[in-house]
Amino acid sequence: MVRFYLPTKIVFGAGSISKLGKIVEEELKASRVFLVTDKGIREAGIDKAIVSQFKSITVFDAIEPNPRHTTVNRAGSIARKMRPDLIIGLGGGSSLDAAKAVALLVTNKGSIEDYEGKHRYVFPPIPVLAVPTTCGTGSEVTWSSVITHTERNFKMSIKGPHTFPSAAVVDPDLLITLPQSLIASTGMDALVHAVEAFSVKPSTFITDLFAKEAVRLIFHHLERAYKDIKGDKEARENLMKGSMLAGVAFGNSDVGAVHCIAEAVGALYDIPHGVANSIFLPYVMEFNLPEAESSYADIAGFIGINGRSRREAAERLIKEVRNLSSGLNIPRFKDIGIEESQFPLIAEKSYQNNSNPSNPRKAKVKDYLQILNTAFSD
Ligand SMILES: [Fe+2]
Repeated sequence: MVRFYLPTKIVFGAGSISKLGKIVEEELKASRVFLVTDKGIREAGIDKAIVSQFKSITVFDAIEPNPRHTTVNRAGSIARKMRPDLIIGLGGGSSLDAAKAVALLVTNKGSIEDYEGKHRYVFPPIPVLAVPTTCGTGSEVTWSSVITHTERNFKMSIKGPHTFPSAAVVDPDLLITLPQSLIASTGMDALVHAVEAFSVKPSTFITDLFAKEAVRLIFHHLERAYKDIKGDKEARENLMKGSMLAGVAFGNSDVGAVHCIAEAVGALYDIPHGVANSIFLPYVMEFNLPEAESSYADIAGFIGINGRSRREAAERLIKEVRNLSSGLNIPRFKDIGIEESQFPLIAEKSYQNNSNPSNPRKAKVKDYLQILNTAFSD
């Protein structure tokens, strides 16, 4: 049986953040706003365009990459005192995920770690409006909030039918000030979302539609956006569309082994999520090939890559993924400072990830270890 659920109202378009105050007042009927963001957004001055549209707004700007449970709990206790009727998440995946978690703490007692898992909260969270400033997260249209428990070195997933943002305002012009390395890593994260959503076991004919279009848009526009984000409006818009559609796809399908490794690495080392994903994508695709040949050959077809056989088309896709990563100057695994002695722990945590059973090919701890070793020696 196929199910598909997306309760988020989507507003997409260049300049759409200038309408935020109106959307909040007229469509979300909210007036007391708590804004969750990070220091980088404040330094870039992006928050000003939003703050100026509200009479009553409190700003929490201490969200870090791989957001920590302690930071979320701190934001939650400030928000509880303010009693907002809307949380706005502004930033990359970290700020959007943190916004969802803070919204849950406003209506529920205790700490965020008490709500780890699916539908563990007692009361629905207050509404969230998500404003992505990167081209990767997809969090603006998904239900999950991934928060790092720093004492357990583990990425908790907190979600439920009420944790989708109520609205997403997606403005591609927010990418103009995004540093080039983040265009690369978050754009590759979006590509991984699309490729995994299409090839994992829970994919459906509905999620395939979104994944297919996302792959096409991201593959054809990521490098262009990387080279000239400011001047190439078409690339910027299509990359943002691809990122959002990939979010819709994996939100109702799942991710697979690439994310299992990226989340394990991110919880231990604070490596940016998109960088970790980009590094492992080709190696996981090679591992998955015996079971995912057909999906990968389909994806190759979507972007105009052909072969004399399905196998050859799938292999050419993997080669194209490698070429794209190196064109975007994504670092290699051995250059990011992870010691080989940590591989068994990373492999174990990858295996424990909730998305591991979704991977197209069954992956055991020894398989993850082999993927890590292959990526490291390449
Ligand atoms: Fe991701």
